[in-house]
Amino acid sequence: MKDSLNGVKTSINRRSFVKNGLTAASAATMGVGLLASSSSAFAKKGPEEHSGSLTRGDAAILRFLAAAEILETDLWQQYNELGGIQDSEVPGGSGNSVYTAALAVLDSDMAQYIHDNTEDELTHEVFINAFLASKGADTVNLDQFRTLPSSKASGAQQIGRLTNLMQLTVDTSWWTRYRVGNKNPDFGDTFDQAVPTLNVGQHPAIPRTDDDLTPNEHIQAIANTAGFHFGTIEQGGTSLYPSLAQRVTHPDVLRIVLSIGPTEAMHFQTWSDKAGNAPPLTDPKDSTLVFPDLNSPPLGGEEFQTNLIMPEPTIFLSRSLPACSIVRPTATNGAAMGALKFLTAMGLFIGQSPAFFQLLTDLAEDADTAKNGHA
Ligand SMILES: [Fe+2]
Ligand SMILES: [Fe+2]
Repeated sequence: MKDSLNGVKTSINRRSFVKNGLTAASAATMGVGLLASSSSAFAKKGPEEHSGSLTRGDAAILRFLAAAEILETDLWQQYNELGGIQDSEVPGGSGNSVYTAALAVLDSDMAQYIHDNTEDELTHEVFINAFLASKGADTVNLDQFRTLPSSKASGAQQIGRLTNLMQLTVDTSWWTRYRVGNKNPDFGDTFDQAVPTLNVGQHPAIPRTDDDLTPNEHIQAIANTAGFHFGTIEQGGTSLYPSLAQRVTHPDVLRIVLSIGPTEAMHFQTWSDKAGNAPPLTDPKDSTLVFPDLNSPPLGGEEFQTNLIMPEPTIFLSRSLPACSIVRPTATNGAAMGALKFLTAMGLFIGQSPAFFQLLTDLAEDADTAKNGHA
């Protein structure tokens, strides 16, 4: 394969590969393995992916979204195997009754919602790649990075994973971000955490082994962690789609991002409601992990009570304009890289190889370079 790619050495222009000092040969070899389309295509035209009849920018944005959806599917699949409903729509795993019961403390429909969210992500992934292929554009395949271990708890499949749900640092600031009326991350504002101790250290969101199933308050802490992580992931998708939609060109591509994005918001809204039911407790196996009463100071009250899940109107575009109820953030500049950094910072990729980060970085940079109508 290296021989067939020798020509690449002179024409390589994959920014991140060059920037990070990888040799052209290793970069090209890596890239070929990652993309589902044929290596011969690479050999003929160099290391950049093919866009087919799409603009380079549209194809790059869709490829980044395809990668994000593959990663989302992988993590949701792990949740579904242990805490969802295993069926022909979302096959794999056999369920873990103790974890499923702990999740059900947040809502009796949790297993169903986990199943449905998983199925949705799978369809996002498959659709975006199929659309890319239908336009003659290269698609994304991350199979070679399915190397991370599965949970050893009863109910999980023993297969390689792309994502790690056992060492999460969960940013729960969306809880306050959507509830305050005078701040917006697009204006540089920062937000208090709902569960400050989840945002430091590393916490499992699924049982790692059957030892994690006891005592009751320990598996409940794990289920609570999952309950907040669901919201954290889906608010990310809720922002990512409108952020990138601002730079797509083709009406069909715009329609895709405008039609998938709001389903992420539907997920987020559901999880935002359920997280409010996470019972207050201290993890008996990790006393640093404390789930507070979300209806008591510093939260609770008129601004933060748990049932106030509708977004509060806030500043948008200009402080001189009237407050507006919106998704936040939606700034388009650097949105793909921002999403990658957000997923990385939560520990989702702990254990992944440098080549994995290289590829994801490259896809994000390509998406962020896309300019409406120009690239
Ligand atoms: Fe999705
Ligand atoms: Fe999602």
